[in-house]
Amino acid sequence: MVANVENKRVVITGGASGIGAASARLLAQRGATVLVSDVNDAEGDALVASLNEAGAKAYFCHADVSQHADVKALMTYAMEHLGGIDVLINNAGVDHDPAPLTAIPQEAFERNIAVNLTGVWHCMRECIPYMLQQKAGQIINVASVAGLRSSPMIAAYSAAKHGVIGLTKSAAVEYARANIRINAVCPSFIDTPMVQNTLKKVDERAQKAIIGANPMKRLGKVEEIAFAVAWLSSDESSFMTGHNVVLDGGMLA
Ligand SMILES: NC(=O)c1ccc[n+]([C@@H]2O[C@H](COP(=O)([O-])OP(=O)(O)OC[C@H]3O[C@@H](n4cnc5c(N)ncnc54)[C@H](O)[C@@H]3O)[C@@H](O)[C@H]2O)c1
Repeated sequence: MVANVENKRVVITGGASGIGAASARLLAQRGATVLVSDVNDAEGDALVASLNEAGAKAYFCHADVSQHADVKALMTYAMEHLGGIDVLINNAGVDHDPAPLTAIPQEAFERNIAVNLTGVWHCMRECIPYMLQQKAGQIINVASVAGLRSSPMIAAYSAAKHGVIGLTKSAAVEYARANIRINAVCPSFIDTPMVQNTLKKVDERAQKAIIGANPMKRLGKVEEIAFAVAWLSSDESSFMTGHNVVLDGGMLA
């Protein structure tokens, strides 16, 4: 049994890389129509071309989620090309170099809030009116275990991800009667370009601490998050809203 997402019309932000790309691939393989959005046009175009070559129905649309006008145009594009939005996956994200709170550069703090938190709000704000018209929809916000617990040295990232969980819970209650379900996924460290980039910047002790941060003593794989995203995208999760799916190798246990 696999989560049935056939014919679902899906918009995924930050879909050109890592967790977003794995989710786009899995959903497309399972028969969803996927609109990949990203600021990285080259990787986004390449992914969409490979999905279409494999027989899927995929589109690419450039959008910087921190820019409200981009997001508005993205949702318009989705309505024009997909004819509706059944699933919105708010996955686009950035991190910042590890630093104690007082040493985080102003620009890094503001960028983490602008992309990771305001970006999610922009997407929900522009997509929910269409879902209200459709009288149905699912939203999946990619948060993090950093949104559930302390995350020393990445306070700006952690603050933004805590905010995403707040948006998720509040909106889920607001729109539950409208048949719009809103949940979050909370991964721990996953093997993506974002984490590989961090591993390059820290010393060997910190690398070991990151990789061994959970009882399984390994990084998660992107597919392990994509499977949860697919289940949340399907009608099999129909009684779930306002919650977090924690995928952390037991880190928070
Ligand atoms: N990798 C992890 O360990 C981990 C853990 C928990 C949560 N997350 C979250 O998962 C999501 C995906 O991360 P990833 O690890 O796959 O990273 P990644 O860097 O591989 O992918 C992130 C994608 O987001 C895009 N992006 C960045 N800024 C954007 C913007 N302003 N507008 C649109 N797109 C933008 C990037 O171009 C990139 O394609 C992020 O929200 C991240 O915070 C990752």
